[in-house]
Amino acid sequence: MRKKAKKKRVVKKKRTKIRKKTASKTAKTRKIKTRKRTTSKAVKARTKKIKTKILTYIPNFDRLTEGGFSKNSTNLLVGGSGSGKSIFATQFLVGGMKKGEKCLYVTFEEKKERFYANMLRFGWDLNEYEKKGMFTFLEYTPAKVKTMLEEGGGAIENIILKKKISRIVIDSITSFALLFEDELEKREAALSLFNMISKWNCTSMLTLEGKPLRDEKMVSRTLEFESDSITLLYFIRHKNERHRYLEILKMRGTKHSKKIYRFHIDKSGMSIDKKPCTLPLRL
Ligand SMILES: Nc1ncnc2c1ncn2[C@@H]1O[C@H](COP(=O)(O)OP(=O)(O)OP(=O)(O)O)[C@@H](O)[C@H]1O
Ligand SMILES: [Mg+2]
Repeated sequence: MRKKAKKKRVVKKKRTKIRKKTASKTAKTRKIKTRKRTTSKAVKARTKKIKTKILTYIPNFDRLTEGGFSKNSTNLLVGGSGSGKSIFATQFLVGGMKKGEKCLYVTFEEKKERFYANMLRFGWDLNEYEKKGMFTFLEYTPAKVKTMLEEGGGAIENIILKKKISRIVIDSITSFALLFEDELEKREAALSLFNMISKWNCTSMLTLEGKPLRDEKMVSRTLEFESDSITLLYFIRHKNERHRYLEILKMRGTKHSKKIYRFHIDKSGMSIDKKPCTLPLRL
């Protein structure tokens, strides 16, 4: 009798143990499942973000801007003479072309041959890209742009549609502003330029010479307000040498870095330091 009772107790104990084990297993599986669901949601969100971003392929710039420029945005690159605007802008186009994108470079200032030779020093063979139909170089007079604005697109728009261009650089819009006499006229021209560019469904970069924030003129204010992002380039002297710095002043819809970074121009183009600058700078 006693033996039977003991056996019963052992069986009961075993059953409870098994039940407990199964319960803990179920809880673990549930936990994993929940974790899996959360991850997939996060991945989805991240993928969505990436889809709406256009990588510049400029070392470290994309890390500072949650993945580059927003798709189809108009981005302003501001800096003094020799600060690296044309190099930055061309590197943005070359990065896209390496991934199969078609690009357009509109300039009022650069001469094609010299420009191609300068860019070749960074290993960017624009002639080759042009032959493949991936790169279009347009030397435009500011007066031609004025006509284009009046026509609401004209030749540039035809090229963009025909060649299916997705990245555009206009280098620079400084001389374009000089075409218009009074501030109101300049402001209106700047507005129609921005409206026209946004119609093209391309990610664009406009370079501008000068220092924003210090320029109280209406046209600069319009450009600043109308652009989706503003990146500033500096070339500052420390003791006996100048150093290059970059700052992102604004980028709509992006949690961008607010720090200032040193950057370098070497044989492979421009690259931005990973760590921000700690020196006290007077910009
Ligand atoms: N191959 C190179 N290697 C290293 N640095 C270079 C090289 N080519 C140009 N640079 C540097 O880049 C500067 C020119 O850069 P970039 O033409 O992009 O300036 P920018 O801002 O467009 O000037 P601008 O307003 O005159 O058009 C040069 O003054 C030089 O300091
Ligand atoms: Mg330039």
